[in-house]
Amino acid sequence: MTRKILVTSALPYANGSIHLGHLVEYIQTDIWVRFQKMLGNTCYYVCADDTHGTPVMLRAEKEGITPEQLIDRVWHEHKADFEGFHVEFDHYGSTNSAETKEFSQAIYRKLKAAGLIEVRSVEQFYDPIKNMFLPDRFIKGECPKCHAKDQYGDNCEVCGTTYAPTELINPYSAVSGAQPERRNSDHYFFKLSADTCQQFLCEWTRSGTLQPEAANKMQEWLGAAGENKLTDWDISRDAPYFGFEIPDAPGKYFYVWLDAPVGYMGSFKKLCDAKGISFDDYWKQSSDTELYHFIGKDILYFHALFWPAMLQHAGFRTPTKLFAHGFLTVNGEKMSKSRGTFITADSYIKQGLNPEYLRYYYAAKLNGTMEDLDLSLEDFVAKVNSDLVGKYINLASRAAGFISKRFDGKLAVSLSSERTRFLENLFIKTVNISGDVDNCIRGQSPEIPGGIEGGRTTYIAQFYEQRNYGGALREIMYLTDIVNKFVDSNKPWELAKQDGRDVELHEVCTVILNAFKSLTVYLKPVLPKLAEDVEAFLNIAPLKWGDAQIFLPDAHAINEYKHLMTRVDSKQINAMVEANKETLAPVADTHSPVRHAEAQQHAIAPIAETISIDEFSKVDLRVARIVNAEQVEGAEKLLKLTLDIGETQPRTVFAGIKSAYDPEKLKGRMTVMVANLAPRKMKFGLSEGMVLAASGDAPGLFILSPDDGAQPGMRIK
Ligand code: 2FM
Ligand code: ZN
Repeated sequence: MTRKILVTSALPYANGSIHLGHLVEYIQTDIWVRFQKMLGNTCYYVCADDTHGTPVMLRAEKEGITPEQLIDRVWHEHKADFEGFHVEFDHYGSTNSAETKEFSQAIYRKLKAAGLIEVRSVEQFYDPIKNMFLPDRFIKGECPKCHAKDQYGDNCEVCGTTYAPTELINPYSAVSGAQPERRNSDHYFFKLSADTCQQFLCEWTRSGTLQPEAANKMQEWLGAAGENKLTDWDISRDAPYFGFEIPDAPGKYFYVWLDAPVGYMGSFKKLCDAKGISFDDYWKQSSDTELYHFIGKDILYFHALFWPAMLQHAGFRTPTKLFAHGFLTVNGEKMSKSRGTFITADSYIKQGLNPEYLRYYYAAKLNGTMEDLDLSLEDFVAKVNSDLVGKYINLASRAAGFISKRFDGKLAVSLSSERTRFLENLFIKTVNISGDVDNCIRGQSPEIPGGIEGGRTTYIAQFYEQRNYGGALREIMYLTDIVNKFVDSNKPWELAKQDGRDVELHEVCTVILNAFKSLTVYLKPVLPKLAEDVEAFLNIAPLKWGDAQIFLPDAHAINEYKHLMTRVDSKQINAMVEANKETLAPVADTHSPVRHAEAQQHAIAPIAETISIDEFSKVDLRVARIVNAEQVEGAEKLLKLTLDIGETQPRTVFAGIKSAYDPEKLKGRMTVMVANLAPRKMKFGLSEGMVLAASGDAPGLFILSPDDGAQPGMRIK
């Protein structure tokens, strides 16, 4: 019986580029969907850009365009990135669509009618210059615990403490630099604390909808039955906000996380309208179709609690299962812009690297759990070159030439029974006999645990179904090894040199190409483009899963072999890493703590061009005592400093630090100056050097101080 399945991946934010971390999920999902389609199931894969929220609004403003223009541009970029990696959606939409708006509002109305919406006044920081309430991530200040400066409103990246933005010392708006005010405003809450939500979620999260690790996590959040640990969820934001207005609540907008998952429905609705699919079949409460959401473990909370509770109480079906995966590390560490391992999808493709290398590598590492996955760049090169090219592709290149040159491009008319048995044992037979490679070659077959009916074809299918692609590829590579052994023991290159052995040569090459075809079936969910090229080369129709057990017709004519895949060159990998060093603009992303932390951690200006130590030594830096500091009449930014660096006469320096320092407080302070900068004639007098100060994107200017004990005139090197 064919299944009817709807599959989604998390919707990427419209304010950043797709990177290799994102691709773990899209590739994982795409492989699963392709596998389902090969089985003949009806399976739709939809996704969309997640477009709403403050970061998109502010970024558009910064770029001088409308949010709609920004999300349109990013949509095209994302679409191209996904196509580049052969991620094939049945529909790729946007949450900023009429459909998503309609569903969001309808769901809200249903929740309201069910008594699950409550309005409460909330006190929040307000930016009086930008005239907007500030999300936690747009408030900065001093950490109340470790006193690190410029920390975000929800947690300190230095000591890791989490707190409320109101606890920050000297808070300021990261948008305008203004000191925020506290203001009250009405917020709309989804009453997750209601008994009906708690009871439903306790059951739902325990009913096999989640992976065991995820179910445990949920129990922590939900508490024991009757404990009712959930608190209500604030689903509204005040104008200005890029999003959907809440019905009958002027100036109030749905928080981005309310309409993001509704985007799954909105995107699917578009597909239904275009293709004549029944939307209700997939979303009505009693639906017997299957619904799966592939997500990262960081957004489980939204998908395992908020989302099912929304659906349930608005009269829709809930997901069949959530499939959460772990995070990507590169070379064993968190992706990093300074190390060049925060690699964008676009830079990978631009480097000329084959996207199927990455699909293969990720597949080999994915096992269906929430464990993190490491992309070791060295291992990546080794694995692709040895397994994919060395073992699998080589099978075709070793056999195809003889078929073209010696047999007019045609396979053998028949095979000996032993050779037929070899193929059958590998791909068809239900076997449960112990044995090894040599047995297999002699016509027996290595053991499959449990003697699964349908042989290895079914065994591998089970791995795919469970998203254990690593298991599937291990099995496929095991079979590939056996076929290579067959090649090595039959030595077609030697048969070709000997007279009278043409029939054998023809049969051996026919077996190899048949095996290659069946292996291609197994690999097709992972390597769809390669499979297409193999189909062209073998002159066959698009391969379905069952084709692994059907051999090519007698005397079948194939096409000339063209190179199917080349080896990865580690030079390309190095160049890609170089190209990614500090090239990305920082992404302000308010809803994903993990992604956000990475973005922030490296939100610094790019490091300047490398200089030699000799070049650096040319700069003569000295410890200076600020003997005097005073305002300069008519100067907006400058203070006049008198600096003692141990010379007979103090120096005069005009420094642009007026916005940050009260001159009185500078007197007597030690600092650092460039002592050999050519004197500069300014409107207010001659400046005989420069004091050094630190600044970043956020407001603030900080002059340097040497450690206690340093004396005026000491050289800094
Ligand atoms: O974490 C994220 O990147 C979100 N944009 C995912 C949204 S998934 C779904 F709910 F839309
Ligand atoms: Zn701290």
